[in-house]
Amino acid sequence: MNKEDKFASKAKEYDALQRRLVTAKAIANRIKAKINLTKDMHLIDFGSGTGLLLECLADDIGKFTAIDISPSMIGILRAKSIPCKLDIKELDLTKEDLDLKVDGIVSSMTIHHIKDVQALFKKFYKMLKSGGFIAIADLDSEDGSFHSVDTGVEHFGFDRKEFIDFAKEAGFTNIKIEDATTISKPHKEFGIFLLTAMKK
Ligand SMILES: C[S@@+](CC[C@H](N)C(=O)[O-])C[C@H]1O[C@@H](n2cnc3c(N)ncnc32)[C@H](O)[C@@H]1O
Repeated sequence: MNKEDKFASKAKEYDALQRRLVTAKAIANRIKAKINLTKDMHLIDFGSGTGLLLECLADDIGKFTAIDISPSMIGILRAKSIPCKLDIKELDLTKEDLDLKVDGIVSSMTIHHIKDVQALFKKFYKMLKSGGFIAIADLDSEDGSFHSVDTGVEHFGFDRKEFIDFAKEAGFTNIKIEDATTISKPHKEFGIFLLTAMKK
């Protein structure tokens, strides 16, 4: 087992939790409502994990590049049959660069694992073609009780204004943020937002 793979103990059972499938579907539906996805599009799913989000969007686009740092999560994705072209990159995008220009970057429930969100948004901006988009779903600010296992949590969710500012500072325009869904855990409900923005 890779010592650095923070999702190693979760990966095998990750898709077995119905709540995760429901959340990914709800986020995908919000993305489809906001962005006109087309078959000629090449998108990145940043922090794809086992691919729950990209599975819900793959029918609508041409190609996904899945990026994830965790060999165990990526291992589950590799075994799946995805109905679009799929390229899988096992890497830490905060430390490595990927020479790609894509039409859009989607991400679900990953940004709270990233220490320097501002730097990542700047990297996203560079990786987009002009006219490209980001559609990023993550946790609203919470009290730290969302995670019961330490999977490398860097933020207890985000204040929405702070999140919009990351996108603004990186150069994005047409920035919108809205409710995507909620995640109900036995002790509490957690809000999930979707931020969308464009590169001019
Ligand atoms: C909570 S999971 C979300 C997985 C998937 N997006 C979903 O919604 O089911 C977070 C994922 O982000 C990945 N991750 C965390 N930090 C990363 C980094 N720096 N670069 C790439 N992936 C990262 C983890 O390995 C994990 O698979």
